[in-house]
Amino acid sequence: MKTRHIADLAVPALGLGCMNLSHAYGAPPPPAQAEALLLEALDLGVTLFDTAALYGFGANETLVGRVLKPHRDRIVLASKGGMAGVEGADGMKRVIDGRPDAIRRNCEDSLRRLQTDRIDLYYLHRWDKSVPIEDSVGAMADLVRAGKLRHVGLSEVSAATLRRAHAVHPIAAVQSEYSLWTRNPEIALDAACRELGTALVAFSPLARGYLTGTLRDVAGLDAKDIRRGMPRFHAEHYAANLKLLGAYEALANEAGCSPAQLALAWLLARGEHVLPIPGTTRSAHLRENLGAVDVQLTPELLARLDAAIGQHNVSGARYSAATQLEVDSEAF
Ligand SMILES: NC(=O)c1ccc[n+]([C@@H]2O[C@H](COP(=O)([O-])OP(=O)(O)OC[C@H]3O[C@@H](n4cnc5c(N)ncnc54)[C@H](OP(=O)(O)O)[C@@H]3O)[C@@H](O)[C@H]2O)c1
Repeated sequence: MKTRHIADLAVPALGLGCMNLSHAYGAPPPPAQAEALLLEALDLGVTLFDTAALYGFGANETLVGRVLKPHRDRIVLASKGGMAGVEGADGMKRVIDGRPDAIRRNCEDSLRRLQTDRIDLYYLHRWDKSVPIEDSVGAMADLVRAGKLRHVGLSEVSAATLRRAHAVHPIAAVQSEYSLWTRNPEIALDAACRELGTALVAFSPLARGYLTGTLRDVAGLDAKDIRRGMPRFHAEHYAANLKLLGAYEALANEAGCSPAQLALAWLLARGEHVLPIPGTTRSAHLRENLGAVDVQLTPELLARLDAAIGQHNVSGARYSAATQLEVDSEAF
């Protein structure tokens, strides 16, 4: 596997997003399938694993910690706090809380669930706008000094917030949604990452399945699938977005790769600081996705890809208005 860097950590060019092994896109896979997938990824050279306190309200960290514990020294473990499940009157609820106490508590919970004494990369999952970013990052910097975290990251932040945070403690990585159909990081964040030496970890790099060309029927999505709440996946917008796939799939054909591989190869071509973390529950998809590291795209094909799918022709917002309020990233 080709290597890239997050601060002083050598990581494979493609990491594994572990979220959908416990959460997000309908019913998670049976435990045996999830365990096998994690170990297969490791066998194939994937050593960067991305989880969060939020995913399955702790279940994803518990899974990753249990399965990868025997291999702890070989992997780069990335998790997130500042947004987690909190027990309420109606059961567990997702709460954004960036106060220093909450971050310390989240970190201790993550360490316990991950069965480790140090997390290699810990992101602030969302900036809690009621808390100065300096305070949240300051708490994370204390945890680095205490030896509990190795590096600090942020998720879904603007370039301005990244700069403020970086003035408190070096920010090793920003994790943002980035793919052909979500170009927000190109407004200003990408340039700030390049300037500060911060890795740009691209989440949902396959556009949550859209860019694989295999998701044709959004009406059939599970009732609990989080894409149901995202405007781009609503029937009227998705029908328009599906029309863009013909030209896109023709380009994949020309490049000699699958649509999923093309989406990942496009991201890898954006720069050495970009690290996609596709998620999958299936062995065949995992292997297919890893094949993207060998796909070479000419400047001419990259330009035609930009014209085929981008902010200029994608229909629908990526988040609902309520969710958009929770993120800090520059919005289109
Ligand atoms: N920081 C944040 O706020 C944030 C938000 C979202 C996600 N993330 C991180 O980013 C990771 C990846 O993002 P994501 O899971 O949202 O989206 P993604 O990687 O863009 O897409 C995942 C979807 O694509 C499907 N898929 C994967 N490979 C495929 C292939 N080769 N062919 C056909 N379908 C394929 C998966 O289904 P199968 O299981 O059937 O393969 C799944 O439905 C997450 O696991 C998580 O770690 C972070």
